[in-house]
Amino acid sequence: MDNPGKFYITTPIYYVNARPHIGHTYTTVVCDTVARRQRMMGCDTWFLTGTDEHGQKIERSATAAGCSPKEFADRVSGEFRQLWDRMKLSYDDFIRTTEPRHVRGVQALFRRLQERGYLYKGSYSGQYCVSDELYVDVAEPGAPCPECGRPTETVHEENYFFKLSAMEEPLLKLYTENPDFIRPDARRNEVISFVRRGLRDLSVSRTTFTWGIPVPGDEKHVIYVWLDALANYITALGYGSDDPSDKARLARYWPADVHMIGKEIVRFHCVYWPAFLLAADIPLPKSIIAHGWLLFEESKMSKTRGNIVRSETILDTLGADTLRYFLMREIVFGSDGSFSFDALVQRFNSDLANGLGNLSSRTLSMITRYFDGEIPYPSSGARDASDDAIAELAQQTIADFHAQFEQFQFSRALETAWGLVAAVNKYIVEQEPWSVAEKDDQDSRARLATILHTSAEALRIVTALVHPVIPESTARIWEQLGLGDIGKLNLRELTWGQLPLHTKLGKVEAVFPRADKSTIERMQQMEQERAAQTAVAAITEPTEQQRTPETPHPPAAPQPAVAAANDTITIEDFTKVELRVALVKVAERVKGADKLLRLEVDLGTETRQIVAGIAKAYDPEKLIGRKVVIVANLAPRKLRGLESQGMIVAASLGDDGVPVLAGFLEDVPVGARLK
Ligand code: MSP
Repeated sequence: MDNPGKFYITTPIYYVNARPHIGHTYTTVVCDTVARRQRMMGCDTWFLTGTDEHGQKIERSATAAGCSPKEFADRVSGEFRQLWDRMKLSYDDFIRTTEPRHVRGVQALFRRLQERGYLYKGSYSGQYCVSDELYVDVAEPGAPCPECGRPTETVHEENYFFKLSAMEEPLLKLYTENPDFIRPDARRNEVISFVRRGLRDLSVSRTTFTWGIPVPGDEKHVIYVWLDALANYITALGYGSDDPSDKARLARYWPADVHMIGKEIVRFHCVYWPAFLLAADIPLPKSIIAHGWLLFEESKMSKTRGNIVRSETILDTLGADTLRYFLMREIVFGSDGSFSFDALVQRFNSDLANGLGNLSSRTLSMITRYFDGEIPYPSSGARDASDDAIAELAQQTIADFHAQFEQFQFSRALETAWGLVAAVNKYIVEQEPWSVAEKDDQDSRARLATILHTSAEALRIVTALVHPVIPESTARIWEQLGLGDIGKLNLRELTWGQLPLHTKLGKVEAVFPRADKSTIERMQQMEQERAAQTAVAAITEPTEQQRTPETPHPPAAPQPAVAAANDTITIEDFTKVELRVALVKVAERVKGADKLLRLEVDLGTETRQIVAGIAKAYDPEKLIGRKVVIVANLAPRKLRGLESQGMIVAASLGDDGVPVLAGFLEDVPVGARLK
């Protein structure tokens, strides 16, 4: 990490089938912190993030949301970007895989692999996991994916194949010769044993869907989504472009210094990506660093589990720095860590409000009170061992903090910095500057000056060190210290004793207000409201056309995930409801009722007419041929003179109750019962 020249760091590009949550925020904050620190060390830094927008998963989510994949991707990609901007993340570029620069670059890479003889056409028959966008090795059709447990789909197609098998030896050589290529070691060992078990050629195109980048010259194929996605790390710099400024950027920043990823995508980054690059004769990234998962109630946060925490909830209550500090301090980098609102508030109060906040406000307010807002200078005659101990500890803190940070031990580095905060707070209590101030003799005045100078200098050091982690609040403390723009500081030069003479403080005010139980309750309440709005696996924000539906059998209002004990029903109650899969044969608008559609659905044994209030959310043409779920034993009722012989099942989104039809990822027979 300590390269004084250039530094290029990337996050994974995030799928747009899920809205951003604090799991995504975690990776992005880690990269942002590292990038900020590299810049403060005087390094020419490039920080890339973005969104991964192609593939069957996104295509299906878009269909479920009733919009085109591009509209869908625009919306969710926009949300990621808005959140990162709201958090003032310091990315230099945000790549979207639907951008022309990326499409051009991926096609150039594909052609290059072809020209170098690494691609061939063959036919593939096997199981595919749509969720992981991965071909898997399972015994039976439909068997669960070994990665995520979801059912796989059978795929028979003619594909382009990449000669991954030819890369086994070069990859093993790479891992052996570059022990830092994959970090931490546990991940490296996993990858090595995976490759040692043998690599089979990889299918790198698909013909069964169209939402992807066409294979150049053979456009019925789209390029495999992981080849498309991984290439972002070079296309964003300009790979595939003839423009001189793109070429210069690519030459300047590639190879990447760090690809930061979550542990579940290690194989793609540590096996496929270097294999593609080796085959294309493009230099390899220097390191791939995998972190653990952020867990909520012991399981990985995911949309499917419905245990997501949104960053916005924390930003709206305690601010971005609190979230950043928590993520960097509480999670031991590389291991899984848990999130809870209680732990967040506890960290905030103990470390930020009581720790750094208290040090800052008591030091600065005493300088205001006793020295008219000008940082006093220490006099050598008034120094004692306690001041020297603080100076020594500060020097040691600088050295340890840097060393730990360089090793990605963020939590330990912060613990080190807060060791200094605690020591100075203790020093202030022991030295009792307020009592010294009561004495009016010259020696006491010199002693008071020394104590407050020592405290201010230690505060300056901690503030500088942790600026990459909590940039907003440290910038404010820096200004209050009268030091101006913290952005101008070179961290490499930070050392004890640099406080300029006659520094006049800026306006002193509290940086971290205290939080209490009501803050936790407020956050939990906000989360519940957000969860209710996003209670389904599909996209949430209604488009203009999706607003104000009228539902004859309105989808139920969003319910808490677990019903209160006295609201439970027995299994017998549930089995009274006959839910069945039905195929839409006819769908048309109902004259004079702009919210209603008349459907004819095939139940296998009979055809039913259903009148559904989904016209604002679904075009009738798009529903024909779609499998839906209906309540088949509901008493018929009339709507606009038409008999509705059942009810279509939909999730209800947002305050407007926008319906999203229930469906299946796997193929299901018409008439199948849900139980
Ligand atoms: N699109 C692929 C990556 C392609 S990179 C060429 C993808 N996207 S994703 O949206 O699923 O994002 C995965 C990444 O988000 C993880 O690798 C991790 O960086 C981050 N996280 C998502 N959920 C997370 C947690 N619960 N905890 C920690 N990180 C998490 O995979």
